[in-house]
Amino acid sequence: MNELPPGPDLHPLRQGMRFGASPFGFLDECARRHGDSFTLRLPGDPPRIVCSHPEDVRRIFALEPDHYVSHDVSIPLNLGARGLLFLDGESHLADRRLMVPPLHGDHLEGYARLIQQVTARRIASFRPGDSFAMHPEMQWVTLSVIMTCVFGLAEGHRLERLRHLTTRWLDGTLTPLVFLVSMAVTATRVRRFLDRAAAASQARYPEGPAPWRLLPWQRLADAKAEIIAILEQEIAECRVRPPGDRRDVMALLVSARYEDGRALETGALIDELIMLLVGGHETTANALCWALRHILARPDVLDRLRAELDEAFPGGKVDATKARKLPYLDACIKESMRLTPIAPAVGRSLIKPLPLERGEAPAGTIVWPCIYLTHRRPDLWPAPEEFRPERFLGEAKVSPNHFFPFGGGRRRCIGMAFASLEMQVVLAELLMTCDLALATGSRPTPIMRGITISPADGLRVVFAGPRRPTKSTTLAPNRR
Ligand code: HEM
Repeated sequence: MNELPPGPDLHPLRQGMRFGASPFGFLDECARRHGDSFTLRLPGDPPRIVCSHPEDVRRIFALEPDHYVSHDVSIPLNLGARGLLFLDGESHLADRRLMVPPLHGDHLEGYARLIQQVTARRIASFRPGDSFAMHPEMQWVTLSVIMTCVFGLAEGHRLERLRHLTTRWLDGTLTPLVFLVSMAVTATRVRRFLDRAAAASQARYPEGPAPWRLLPWQRLADAKAEIIAILEQEIAECRVRPPGDRRDVMALLVSARYEDGRALETGALIDELIMLLVGGHETTANALCWALRHILARPDVLDRLRAELDEAFPGGKVDATKARKLPYLDACIKESMRLTPIAPAVGRSLIKPLPLERGEAPAGTIVWPCIYLTHRRPDLWPAPEEFRPERFLGEAKVSPNHFFPFGGGRRRCIGMAFASLEMQVVLAELLMTCDLALATGSRPTPIMRGITISPADGLRVVFAGPRRPTKSTTLAPNRR
C-alpha cells in the first residue's frame, strides 16, 4: 500500500488537541467519516493507523516480537527505560516471565484481604452528607494497594513519604502543559529530558535534593530521585533479610531468577517496580470511577448488584476472597470497561509491513488496535451505547479480538488478574457498606488525563451514610 488510509484533514497539533480534550468524541467522529480504519497524525509521532475491524485486531495481536518495537512508545513520563513497557524481544519476554507469577495464582488470595483493609480504611474517612469527587479517593486506594501488595510497605513514615512523592511526581508530570510540550517536541524527547534531570538529581543522593531547586522539572526530578532512593533502600533490606512469609511482589521479584540463574539487577528491578506503580495505580482508579458511574446511574443495576452482595454476605461483612466469584459484579465491571475503556487503544510500532483488511500498513507506521471503537461496533455488540452487564453473564466466551480492555497478544497487561480482583473487592466493599449516589449535575465526560481516560469532574458523588444490607435477597433473573 503506498497510501495510508485517509484520516482527519487537520494539522497534527489540532488532531492532538481534539483527541486530548475529547478522546471518544474525536474517535467516533473519525470512524463515522472514515470507517474501520483511518490514519491519525499526532505531533512528533509517525502516522498512526487506527484499526477497529476484529480481523485487524487479531492480526496485530498475533504479531511476532521481531515485527515491531516498543522502546519509543510515546509517553511523556520518565518511567525508567528498563521497564517492561519499553523492552523488546528476548529481554521483554524474560522480564515478563519473572513478573507474571507474583501477580497471579495463589498470591491473589492474600492481596484480596489487603485490598479490602485499605478500602475499608478509606471509607471510614467518609462523613455522612459529604459530596466529593470519587477520583482522588480511588487514587488513594489504588496507590495504597500498590504500596502494600507490590512494595510490601506497612502503614508508616516510609509509605506516607512514598505516597507523597509519587503523587507529586505523577501530578506534576501528567499535566496539560507537559502534554502540550510533548505535542510540540515529541513525548520521547520530554521523557529523555526528564530522565536526565532525574539522573542528575539521583547523583546527589544520599545527601538529598539541593534546597535552591526552583524550576518545576527540577522538583519533579527530585521527587523521582527520592522514590528511587527509597526503593533502593527497600530492595537492599529485602536482599539481606530472609523473605520469611513476605508475599509482596517486590520480595518475590528479589528472589526470582532468570532461566540462566541470574537475579534481576537492582536498577532494572527499580524500573520494573516503578512500571507496576504507574501502570497499576491510575489505570485501576479510573476504571473504578467509570464502573461506579455506570452502576450508580442505573437503579435497576444497583439493586441487582446489591441483591447479589447481600446474598453472598448475609452478615453484612464482605469476604474479600469470595468477592472474586460474584458473576453480576464481574459482568458490571467488564461492561463498564467495554463502554469506557481507560486506554482508548494500544500501539505497535511496525518495523515490517503488515497486511490489513484495507491494504497494508508500511514499516515505520504505528498500528493502533482501537479498544474504544471495537467495543462500540454494532455488529459485535447490539445496542453498543447501552450499559448491559447481562452481555457478560453465561458461559459463552467473548473473543479477545472483540473485547480487549487490557490489550492483547504478547504484551497484554500483566496486571489484568490483579486489577480485576482489586475492582471486585473495592466495589463490593463500597456498594455493600456505603449509601452512595451520583451528585446532581455530575458531568463525568471522558478526558485524556496523562495516559488514561478519566471522568472530567472526577466523578462527583454524595455519601448519604453507612448502608444496611436488605433482608430480602431475591436475585433478578438473567435478561440476556
Ligand atoms: C483496570 C486496570 C488496568 C487496565 C485497564 C490496564 C490496561 C493495560 C493496557 C491496555 C496495556 C497495554 C497492553 C498491550 O499493549 O497490548 C497494559 C500494559 C501493562 N500493564 Fe496494565 N492495566 C491495568 C492495570 C494494571 C495493573 C494493576 C498493573 C500492575 C500491577 C499493570 C501493569 C501493566 C504492565 C507492566 C504493562 C506492560 C506489559 C508489557 O508491555 O508487556 N496494569 N495495561
